[in-house]
Amino acid sequence: MQIKTVLRRAQLLSSALVLLTAAASTTAQQPLRTLLVGADQRPAQSLDGDWHYLVEQPPARELYDGKGNIRDNGYALNTHPNISSGPHNSEYDFSTAPTLKVPGDWNTQDPTLLRFEGVVWYQRDFNVTPPTGNQPGTRTFFHVGAANYRSVLWINGKRLCDHEGGFTPFDCDATSLLHPGSNFVVIAVDSTRHQDDIPSVSYDFYDYGGLTRDVSLITVPAQFIDDYKVQLAHGPTFAANTAAARTVDGYVHVEGASAGTSVSISIPEAGVSITATTDANGRAPFHAEAKHLDLWSTTSPRLYKVELRAGTDTVTDQIGFRDVRVDGTRILLNGKPVALLGANMHAEAPIRGGRAITDADMQNILKMLHDIHANYVRLCHYPHDERMTRATDRAGILVWSEIPLWQRISFEKPEVYSKAVTMLHEMIRRDQNKASVIFWSVSNETPNNPDRTHFLTDLANEARHTDSTRLITSALIGPHSSGDRIVQEDPLMAALDVVGQNEYIGWYEGTPEDADRKTWVLPNKPFIMSEFGAEAKYGNHGSPNDRWTEEQQANVLQHQFDMIRRIPQMRGVTPWVLMDFRSSTRNIPKLQDGYNRKGLFSETMQPKQSVELVRKTYTTNPPVKPE
Ligand code: GCU
Repeated sequence: MQIKTVLRRAQLLSSALVLLTAAASTTAQQPLRTLLVGADQRPAQSLDGDWHYLVEQPPARELYDGKGNIRDNGYALNTHPNISSGPHNSEYDFSTAPTLKVPGDWNTQDPTLLRFEGVVWYQRDFNVTPPTGNQPGTRTFFHVGAANYRSVLWINGKRLCDHEGGFTPFDCDATSLLHPGSNFVVIAVDSTRHQDDIPSVSYDFYDYGGLTRDVSLITVPAQFIDDYKVQLAHGPTFAANTAAARTVDGYVHVEGASAGTSVSISIPEAGVSITATTDANGRAPFHAEAKHLDLWSTTSPRLYKVELRAGTDTVTDQIGFRDVRVDGTRILLNGKPVALLGANMHAEAPIRGGRAITDADMQNILKMLHDIHANYVRLCHYPHDERMTRATDRAGILVWSEIPLWQRISFEKPEVYSKAVTMLHEMIRRDQNKASVIFWSVSNETPNNPDRTHFLTDLANEARHTDSTRLITSALIGPHSSGDRIVQEDPLMAALDVVGQNEYIGWYEGTPEDADRKTWVLPNKPFIMSEFGAEAKYGNHGSPNDRWTEEQQANVLQHQFDMIRRIPQMRGVTPWVLMDFRSSTRNIPKLQDGYNRKGLFSETMQPKQSVELVRKTYTTNPPVKPE
């Protein structure tokens, strides 16, 4: 075993311990920080709405003491200046400061912050009434759906917790810091980029900063369900209409429970009603044969109400049951070969712009997917709002979910590896009960070198270890074609169940017609052409070879579909990209104006010519076959 892998395992152990010990260490220094599975299904006191904000330019001395430490005695104290007499003890005042909407990015709310990457301080007051707050027999968690990129939280002037990573939720036990009546919270969110971040300093999507997803208070009994997985049993093989095909299994974890605690699992419509018992770690595994179970699929996305109960705590969720696996070059859904016809999509709100966060945003995204007759979407390059995977669960759209490990990061650093593991664990934990999510992707377009391959091989194995019921993948780039034979030999493929292949023949390299001559030499695994396409400004017209026109984009896609049809291992396609999206690296005036224009739709959902082409192709002559 590689020295690095051993080191990484040690590091991994410590990072996993971070997530767990955050649980144990309710000692003086840090309240529990965890991720409550099914948080969006629990009753909660929403803190969404208008929050006061103050902007801090680098070096942000109210947050950082210049020695790498977080300051607890700056804006976190939320003091008010004594205007009438000097000297002023503090020269800031949240109470008279303007407000930003939460959830939401700050960039599209305040024009002066459109391109701001740095620290924004959020503050709001809120009332605590029982059972919320420091009540006997209960605990109150401060839930953040996501905050990009780094965030530090204080309640009533006391540090609560911090989090790194812009696209996954976290829950911090605020019980001891809350008191009945009026309380206040201050959150510093820092979207500054750093070399050792994930993603690192340069990436082709927008660095939307802020409290970008829901914020709330969730009160639970002292013993509560913080984690559960309820799914179809995943045996070595799958056969429809057998007992195995209606057997559910999983576990329920009860935080604070001693061994022998009883947990009930019921799925009324499937005739499941069982009890299980926790072990010494509070985990209660279960296994039960349902009387009847309609499996979730793209044509019948059946969700079942699932009720979990432990002591006085109850969680209810809507879960679909399905089996996904590979067999040679085929991808099997409930034992049947499936072809994935979709597109890539960033978490950007169609029409209004900014981060996609509302049910209406999700419906608009689904509408565009339906318009191209898609059964699949690659949510790139980071976990999207949970509303999206709830919506794909209901709509029967299969999902590729990915951590934001985009191109170059500090692969040589163990501390960056444990960051990637934490992001992976958080992504998996939030969506492990979403039937529509079938892929966990560990990266996008990373350089083929030994450090990277070791890092990502370990990460892929960690993903498989964490969730053996889904397929592990990554989007590869290259080899850039020298001549017409493209031989993919990337060593990372050995660690993947399904391989994503990105290529831009006809845009970044060659002409659209070059694709007609390409021969791809690929290993005997299922492949997805995970990115291909061309830029076109909506309404820009010309000949099929006039770049930046709708005609040229359609021409590129046409030749791509023809090329892909000739590659036997291809089981899926996702053109880059469903909708034009903001990127600070795209600055050709009149053509890009700060947008990547490879969308099939404009950022205001106007369909370019390619929409018709893709819809017709997906309905009448799909470029990939199930087998
Ligand atoms: C890359 C990358 C995308 C990027 C796209 C492009 O392949 O994965 O994030 O936006 O190409 O260049 O348009």
